[in-house]
Amino acid sequence: MLIVADHPTGTVRRMRMHVADHPLIAHKLTALRDERTESPTFRRLVDELVTLLAYEATREVRVEPSEIRTPVGPTTGVRLAAPKPLVVPILRAGLGMLDGMTRLLPTAEVGFLGMIRDEETLQASTYATRLPDDLSGRQVFALDPMLATGGTLVAAINFLADRGATDITAICLLAAPEGVARLEAETAELELDINVVTAALDERLNELGYIVPGLGDAGDRLYGVV
Ligand code: URA
Repeated sequence: MLIVADHPTGTVRRMRMHVADHPLIAHKLTALRDERTESPTFRRLVDELVTLLAYEATREVRVEPSEIRTPVGPTTGVRLAAPKPLVVPILRAGLGMLDGMTRLLPTAEVGFLGMIRDEETLQASTYATRLPDDLSGRQVFALDPMLATGGTLVAAINFLADRGATDITAICLLAAPEGVARLEAETAELELDINVVTAALDERLNELGYIVPGLGDAGDRLYGVV
């Protein structure tokens, strides 16, 4: 799904949504959703799924030409361009996605953004940050397992945009239509490209803000209830 909007400043901003359609992803996601899947297996499945999603999410990662010699002769290949991509897991549950992402992008830098959702108001607030001050020119990959109400991701994108990010890809295990719509509506004023890569677009949210059918509370299933 591609949403292209004319920004008031005359620039064009894009929001793209990619639902990864692959039988292996669907297979792993089914096991992940299953309430009988316990934390150790859940963590391993998240790790594997993120690596598969990261392959899609990095399709436009910036590269530059690189001259090398093979044992047979010279050739021009590519290497990741500077500045390095930045991977930002949104704590707590996004941490469970970090290893799967850096497996594919080992030279990326990693920043941290701690956000918590008030379970009554469903509002997200920031409780921890460890990020470069200037994100201009960086390709940013935000890791957030559940795009549910969209509140956390909208707050995270605003935070990253305030530091100059203009190219943000969110990798989410699951997304709900309500969250996608809110993300589109509430980032419309920002001059940036947003890509969302997810394993599935589920049916809806329930009255508690959980994705249906979803997989439950991603943080609790990864790390237990604290
Ligand atoms: N956060 C989760 O962990 N699960 C949901 O279904 C919604 C938000």
